[in-house]
Amino acid sequence: MAVFPEQAVQSFRAAYPSTGTHLTHRLTNHPLLEIEALARLAERIRPEDLEHNAATDLPLGISNAETPSNGLSVHDTIASIQNCGSWVLLKQVQQDPAYRDLLHDVLSELKPEIEPVTGEMLKLVAFIFISSPNAVTPLHFDPEYNILFQIRGTKTMTLFPAEDSELVTQRFREQYYDGGPRNLPWREEFAARGREIHIKPGEGIYVPILAPHWVKTHGEVSVSLSLTWRSEWSFHQEDAHRLNSRLRRLGLKPSPPRFFPQGNLAKSVAQRAISKVERTWSGRAATDA
Ligand SMILES: [Fe+2]
Repeated sequence: MAVFPEQAVQSFRAAYPSTGTHLTHRLTNHPLLEIEALARLAERIRPEDLEHNAATDLPLGISNAETPSNGLSVHDTIASIQNCGSWVLLKQVQQDPAYRDLLHDVLSELKPEIEPVTGEMLKLVAFIFISSPNAVTPLHFDPEYNILFQIRGTKTMTLFPAEDSELVTQRFREQYYDGGPRNLPWREEFAARGREIHIKPGEGIYVPILAPHWVKTHGEVSVSLSLTWRSEWSFHQEDAHRLNSRLRRLGLKPSPPRFFPQGNLAKSVAQRAISKVERTWSGRAATDA
């Protein structure tokens, strides 16, 4: 049976790629997503793909550097997730073949909706979030198109438009693509611009690329699966941010990268040409040294 009911496919089709939307799904009882299976997965994936931190009473605008440790190993955090006030992220879980199949099988159902709009689906990646009751994920954005599937417990995501240039300045996004943090500063006046979307098991959210959001779990342990992809359009926009960063360093004030359906091809071509030259020269310098 399909993971997405027909109505979810219709909602997704109407929203993609620029608008967030509530969806339903049939993944809730999937054996790979039970907490015991996830604890075993955390034992076998690369240690660098595990993140965890204390997550209750966090300010919405906390920086990545200030996010507090919970003093436990990631494995002890998962074992005590009911009571330890924490958040665990398993990244790149498609490194495990069973989760890779899940990622590709589920997203293939939406290929007919996605590829006519944004082209070939590229760089498919799966993440899993395990959270204690009342955990907060502070305001941030992600560089991928994302569907968040709620598997256990409930969550509220407050979602903001990607194009809001006060919430995320051009400079902030440029610094992000240059390796900077993704958690955003929070101002109380932003609250009214967000849209709250509540999800329980069997429900999910399509989160547009670069759209800021913060997330809160409620009174139970929460498990969510996040399946993401990129498009050539999104790589062009990323290149435009990198080129703008260079231009700004030269004292120029570049025009902002454009949002869908407009493209960023010219800036992408320029950025790729410059970085190719740089790589060639740094390769030569290394050979000459
Ligand atoms: Fe996120």
